[in-house]
Amino acid sequence: MTRPQGSPRAQADGNVLEIRDLRTYFYTDLGISRALNGVTLSVPTGSVMGVVGESGCGKSMTALSTMRLVPKPGRIVGGEIYFRRGQATKGSASTSIDLTTLDPMGDDIRSIRGGEIAMIFQEPMTSLNPSYTVGNQIMEAVLLHQGLSRDQAQERAVRILGRVGMPNPERTVTQYPHELSGGMRQRAMIAMGLSCTPDILIADEPTTALDVTTEAEILDLMRELQAEIGMTIIFITHNLGVVAQMCDRVAVMYLGRVVEETSIDDLFYNPQHPYTKALLQSIPRVGSRSRDRLKPIRGVVPDPYAEVVGCPFHPRCDAMMAGLCDVRVPALTQVAEGHGVRCFLYSEEGEDDVHEG
Ligand SMILES: Nc1ncnc2c1ncn2[C@@H]1O[C@H](COP(=O)(O)OP(=O)(O)O)[C@@H](O)[C@H]1O
Ligand code: SF4
Ligand SMILES: [Mg+2]
Repeated sequence: MTRPQGSPRAQADGNVLEIRDLRTYFYTDLGISRALNGVTLSVPTGSVMGVVGESGCGKSMTALSTMRLVPKPGRIVGGEIYFRRGQATKGSASTSIDLTTLDPMGDDIRSIRGGEIAMIFQEPMTSLNPSYTVGNQIMEAVLLHQGLSRDQAQERAVRILGRVGMPNPERTVTQYPHELSGGMRQRAMIAMGLSCTPDILIADEPTTALDVTTEAEILDLMRELQAEIGMTIIFITHNLGVVAQMCDRVAVMYLGRVVEETSIDDLFYNPQHPYTKALLQSIPRVGSRSRDRLKPIRGVVPDPYAEVVGCPFHPRCDAMMAGLCDVRVPALTQVAEGHGVRCFLYSEEGEDDVHEG
């Protein structure tokens, strides 16, 4: 298939981000680890898109590839990440840019990162610098991307800290990260992410380290701000309860691929992919207290260096069809409008696996 690189038709108007067949590999002494092995994902403008899947399936790497922050020895070896630039501010004058073509150290990606696309991490100390005050760090982001004066930037930092529920924002701007509690640090990081009103906020398990009450408060707040600012959120989590609370759509990942992409209602009431079904039975649902009805997914996620031929889920799948599922990779098929599934139960269309390194 040929793709119209950089042409306006390369990306649908309603999607702020379109990831196509993205491959991010790690080249190590142990071999090649295919962290992303053909991720395809469309993120509608203004939506909250959940990304779920077991640990190691490539959720963080999808985010880091989009930000062009893949750590060595990893690199993007194939695919495209189309970002619709300037949609929020310039209306129809928006342009589509393939982020994989940018120099990862260059000016273009630097101006996008933190300004148009911001990311918040599971562990706040990953993005908060321990040697600078919280106020300075928010101001730095605002000064870099918005061209405000120092006084205006400080005022804005205080305002945004108040907005994320800091009890005393005037004091917090003068504090260092280590002086704050875990929940307050998380709020400071969210404030930093929001300070430039990004078009896309990528939140990578932002509340996993928090207690349930603080988590609920932060999720409410993010949803509120999302509606207010109209930004798009990509919400990475392994918690389906959080997905139910936060998201409009969801992508389910398995071994470096999106295996199902659908609306939140269809995820819970009409899941199609065997992995999605197994995942739903294996993790606690919203409001469920007892763990005894949970059914763990049979088998384990294969070693990332092992090459699984065929459908990546076939060694664990109860519906596996020998001679088909263990030979080719199922193609992403639309089973209904806005509902994509990669499974031979729905279409015999397959793809040959790409194994060049
Ligand atoms: N430094 C590394 N060296 C080799 N492989 C890596 C490295 N970092 C990540 N990976 C690979 O990327 C895969 C996906 O990781 P990640 O995106 O962090 O998973 P998730 O966020 O879904 O838990 C891992 O299973 C691993 O195979
Ligand atoms: S393609 Fe085959 S092995 Fe893979 S999920 Fe579907 S039925 Fe199971
Ligand atoms: Mg992760």
